[in-house]
Amino acid sequence: MTTPFEYALENQDTFLRELTEFLRIPSISAQPQHKADIRKAAEWAAAHCLSLGMTRAEVLETEGHPVVYAEWLGAGSSAPTAILYGHYDVQPAELKDGWHTEPFQPVIMDDKIYGRGTADDKGQVFIHLKAFESVMKTTGTFPVNLKIMLEGEEEVGSIHLRPFIQSHVELLKADVGLVSDSGMIAPGTPTIVYGLRGLVELEIYVTGPDHDLHSGAYGGTVDNPTHAISRIVASLHDAQGRIAVPGFLDDVRVLTPDERESIAHVPFTEAMWKAETNAPAIWGDPDFTLKERTGARPTIEVNGLFGGYTGDGSKTIIPAKATAKITCRLVPNQNPQKVFAAIERHVAAHTPPTVRSKVSFKRGEPGIVVDPNDPAMQVAVEAYQHSYGKAPIFTLEGGSIPAVMMLREALGIPVILMGFGLPDDRLHAPNEKFSLEQFRLGMQTAIEFYRLLPNYKK
Ligand code: BES
Ligand code: MN
Ligand code: MN
Repeated sequence: MTTPFEYALENQDTFLRELTEFLRIPSISAQPQHKADIRKAAEWAAAHCLSLGMTRAEVLETEGHPVVYAEWLGAGSSAPTAILYGHYDVQPAELKDGWHTEPFQPVIMDDKIYGRGTADDKGQVFIHLKAFESVMKTTGTFPVNLKIMLEGEEEVGSIHLRPFIQSHVELLKADVGLVSDSGMIAPGTPTIVYGLRGLVELEIYVTGPDHDLHSGAYGGTVDNPTHAISRIVASLHDAQGRIAVPGFLDDVRVLTPDERESIAHVPFTEAMWKAETNAPAIWGDPDFTLKERTGARPTIEVNGLFGGYTGDGSKTIIPAKATAKITCRLVPNQNPQKVFAAIERHVAAHTPPTVRSKVSFKRGEPGIVVDPNDPAMQVAVEAYQHSYGKAPIFTLEGGSIPAVMMLREALGIPVILMGFGLPDDRLHAPNEKFSLEQFRLGMQTAIEFYRLLPNYKK
């Protein structure tokens, strides 16, 4: 008899052909011209779920891009119910950004699949769809009730997901949440993320003269808004790289000695940092280690800084305005509104009388920690033990997945972050890829996780 994992291995080529179809749909949530592609991807995913033997799959409307909901509830009311969350939207990508191959024409090379969305997150969602298929096709049933919720707005901040979840609590009700949208620390080092950072997005606008001025006529008499915003941005950190905004760090959860100890054992080295970034030297708060700073500490980061003339050649002006687009990563216990207020006060205090400034709040989501001792976590540990031959390590991750917090809030369930990405997957960047070894091990882990989940008692 074929086991589910044997089935998965035997059908890998078919799985990859199907994944390729999914990846070819440029479901870029940030760009209005891709609205139809977003819907196409949602419909594709729903139809695919039905083809696997799920008994219900629908594209449900939200105020923004739709949510795909699918379910198979044949395990009965005495079996646990798991809800898988993932996202079918992707980050923007264009060949000219530095891709070696077309971002939406996936290519398989050296046991890796290259293309936008391969690791983040279509490829990782596929792990679970194919685990479900493999179990269904070989055993005719599935060990747990499975609900699937796939979002189309994760990459733009999940703005409409909270009201969707809140108005569908009954539909989404489950005992445990599962997400494969994060990564492992290194190949061969299975990793469970037990904390994700939150996020505050804001913009600072600085204005000076009410129109662009001739820099020969007025230079030396007018405070240039691009200079003033640079000084404001520079004041957010001290010279060593510590956050210098009063109040920003007030509620930061202090790392326990145990946590610092376990973070110290995470096999992430300065050499790995160097290989990934190729930046000339490490920067950041000297009071914390490199590893602590990548997931366990908050940040303030300018994502875009602009003002004045940026086209070809030159233009001799004093620009009328300048803008900084900023996101802050928050650790658990920090309140997004409070953090925003601290920055707003700080910017006001650092705005000289020669310009005007305004700070606008875009959105915020708190960070989250999942209890590593939850019994469902133990199931995940055993599943990794089975597939990778070793227990996973627990890490705090720097990225954010707003839905994780929302699911826990609305459903009161633990959410397990079983990510199969690797550090060199180039998420959000040109030449994103997903390792097929990770795809296979991911399916093996997922199959085992679902098999063991009925042992889980809440
Ligand atoms: N999958 C990522 C988050 C992630 C990346 C988790 C790496 C763990 C490791 C997700 O798709 C993402 O990019 N999230 C955004 C959220 C934001 C737009 C609210 C992020 O972290 O920037
Ligand atoms: Mn993602
Ligand atoms: Mn992403």
